[in-house]
Amino acid sequence: MTNTVMPTYGRLDVAFVSGKGVWLTDTQGNQYLDALSGIAVCNLGHSHPAITKAICEQAGTLMHTSNIYQIPLQTQLADKLTELSAMEQVFFCNSGAEANEAAIKIARKYGHSKGIDKPVIIVMDGSFHGRTLATLTATGNPKVHAGFEPLVPGFVRVPYNDLDALRMAVSHWPEAVAIMLEPVQAEGGIKIPDQDYLAGVRSLCTQRKLLMMLDEVQTGIARTGEWFCVQHNEGVLPDVMTLAKALGNGMPIGACLVSGAAVGVLEAGNHGSTFGGNPLACKVALTVLETIETDNILQNVKTLNAQMVRGFEQALAGQDGVKQIRAAGFIFGIELKIPCTELVQQALNKGLLINVTADKVIRLLPPLVINADEAKQIVKTVSDLVIDFLASQTIENVA
Ligand SMILES: Cc1ncc(COP(=O)(O)O)c(C=O)c1O
Repeated sequence: MTNTVMPTYGRLDVAFVSGKGVWLTDTQGNQYLDALSGIAVCNLGHSHPAITKAICEQAGTLMHTSNIYQIPLQTQLADKLTELSAMEQVFFCNSGAEANEAAIKIARKYGHSKGIDKPVIIVMDGSFHGRTLATLTATGNPKVHAGFEPLVPGFVRVPYNDLDALRMAVSHWPEAVAIMLEPVQAEGGIKIPDQDYLAGVRSLCTQRKLLMMLDEVQTGIARTGEWFCVQHNEGVLPDVMTLAKALGNGMPIGACLVSGAAVGVLEAGNHGSTFGGNPLACKVALTVLETIETDNILQNVKTLNAQMVRGFEQALAGQDGVKQIRAAGFIFGIELKIPCTELVQQALNKGLLINVTADKVIRLLPPLVINADEAKQIVKTVSDLVIDFLASQTIENVA
């Protein structure tokens, strides 16, 4: 059989035909507990009735006009997002990479407005910002760069969670205009910075008139138990914040939010997107935000985060091969001392969808609507798999 799809992904040998809540069904009728949410997208689970209704009604009313006309649903969504985030304005697009492209363009134009001809954006080791040329350049992973050189100029990189390194870079680069980072590095291995890190980045940006640009593509929309991960840090407001993934629960939509010095940088004709912010995507995103409120999702994340972390700590206590258990709301990382990518297939065989990132970190991103029993089931299945996996390894490997 000829393969007409470009092989840009290493795919598991399973195809899902339907989903309901946190469960997916494959072509053979087997059921799987989804502990990945399509990589932090389906935060409200699959086929949520409110989302399905919004899609059907809006598709039957009006899907697309153009950004050359007024789009009231876009305005409503921008109003809601700015109310929830305390940001001021929103540009809509269709994905995380596009939202970050908008952020990068804002940083450059902000630099030019200050007379800096070759603006520099400071980015982080271990980061992930997307696969377009500028966002893959911003991404701190050599595997993502390989084969696509020459990369885009105007980026310098520092270690994550290191305020001294950041201060040095800012002093070394007078052309620096922005610092771009994730509040938790998810693709990079569930790296959670120190409690004072984001506040430190904020005050450095304020002192040096740099834009603080937060990529909340994976952490945003209630994933960490607040609407946006930055809200765990009282008083910290970025100048630019990017969203996508769970904003549409599967309907493609991205957003780049601005406040303070970043407001007004982009003017008519500077940026655009044919599909960005169309009535269908905006209606769905509005329904996602309403549902998170009405279904008390933030509380569910907080309660079950604590239960799951406790469950993992108890079940994996004394396992020498486990390096660390980390969690930010419903982003769970279990770091082993050895590579463990085969656990993805082993979990699939047991009817559970998980992921391994940075080779050694089991990553769980369950839908935010799971209940206590489903949370327990995830903890038990993953812990049993880890224990069996470590027991099957030689002592030297694990030590
Ligand atoms: C933090 C972060 N930024 C950006 C992206 C890119 O988003 P997209 O795949 O929608 O372009 C991702 C995707 O995983 C991400 O996790």
